[in-house]
Amino acid sequence: MDARAIIAQVRKGQTPPQADLSAFAQGLATGAVSDAQAGAFAMAVCLNGLSDAGRVGLTAAMRDSGDVLAWDLAGPVVDKHSTGGVGDCVSLILAPMLAACGVFVPMISGRGLGHTGGTLDKLEAVPGVSTDVSEARLRAIVAEVGCAIVSATGRIAPADKRLYAVRDVTATVDSVDLITASILSKKLAAGLGALVLDVKFGSGAFMKTEAEARALAQALVQTARGAGCPTVAVLSDMNQPLAPSLGNATELATCMEILSGAPEAAPRLVTLALALGCEALGLAGWPEDKARAALERTLADGTALNRFARMIAALGGPPDMDQDWRTHLPKAPVTLAVKASAAGHVAAIDGEALGLAVVALGGGRQKEGDRIDPAVGLTDVRNLGERVAAGDVLAVVNARNDDAAQAACDAVKAAITIGAAPHVGPLILDRIT
Ligand code: URA
Repeated sequence: MDARAIIAQVRKGQTPPQADLSAFAQGLATGAVSDAQAGAFAMAVCLNGLSDAGRVGLTAAMRDSGDVLAWDLAGPVVDKHSTGGVGDCVSLILAPMLAACGVFVPMISGRGLGHTGGTLDKLEAVPGVSTDVSEARLRAIVAEVGCAIVSATGRIAPADKRLYAVRDVTATVDSVDLITASILSKKLAAGLGALVLDVKFGSGAFMKTEAEARALAQALVQTARGAGCPTVAVLSDMNQPLAPSLGNATELATCMEILSGAPEAAPRLVTLALALGCEALGLAGWPEDKARAALERTLADGTALNRFARMIAALGGPPDMDQDWRTHLPKAPVTLAVKASAAGHVAAIDGEALGLAVVALGGGRQKEGDRIDPAVGLTDVRNLGERVAAGDVLAVVNARNDDAAQAACDAVKAAITIGAAPHVGPLILDRIT
């Protein structure tokens, strides 16, 4: 392999042959491709883009740069991936709901990124839980429980790990082609039979506009299908948090309420989880009405809660999350209500600012390696369009100390605009197939 020739082809807008993309991805994984070459490749893709075939080729090459799991289970293997938002804890309820329907979910997830929370950080708010498990343990938990939410081992898509680190310091994160190959290489290495994508747009998402999200969704679906994985994407609105809580233990508590049979704890979260679940079961061959009824039943009859509790125990957490979950979740020592200074409607919510307020409280990382405070965050966040009187609570800050609470209170107040009734768009705007 001559890395320079491959980079030159991309620089000229040509699509390198598949064998060259595979060799380049292997070179990223082994170190045979230097940082300078990886950066030049990423910049060439960023500036020129890849053809559809090139994007599929790069994704497959990165997927195959490490282990690709194969399953022999008594049901379909499916997964869901979200492009990230605030108060988005769908994975925590959807994985056990799907498992309770008899499908298998090896969900390789991520940690918090920027203003968005990470599913792994939320799960690890439960004392004892570690999502860093071996491939053998992942296999055993998926086979026994039906779902496992874990981090990627070093053997899953190592080319992405390397390229992502280079992109991070070469201003090349921002490319639909590279984002697509990065997300899908990890997901497809889990050996999925089908994939559902939740592509978000709005103030709390990475893609601020519907057009950007649609372009990413189309690239993701076309690429995943091209790489052999039946995939559907849902375009969903992230102009307000999906749940009334943001943070780690705070979001997990909301999920526990839903799994314990109280969907009213976060109706929008439940609506989206059901829609994504129907898509996942649909790809596994279920008719829509049967899928919806089965998914709803898993929440009402406690079977999803049972799967969740078994997964928590298998990951090192307490054995009784289905009973005494409140006693297991850390609580912040200081709470402070954010109050409306005028009457009106919740006219706009800056989701990114809310997410950054949680990061500043210690609920996310400001730099790599920072320790997360699992207890802090926001609760009781109002919905967009709700009517409030002066002095009404807009949200509650859960903090480690008074100073942090006051700073978050100011940030949250600035992030929530009170004014005229806004237009609130549908939660699910479209599906891309
Ligand atoms: N998430 C990923 O895994 N990769 C990207 O490039 C962006 C978001």
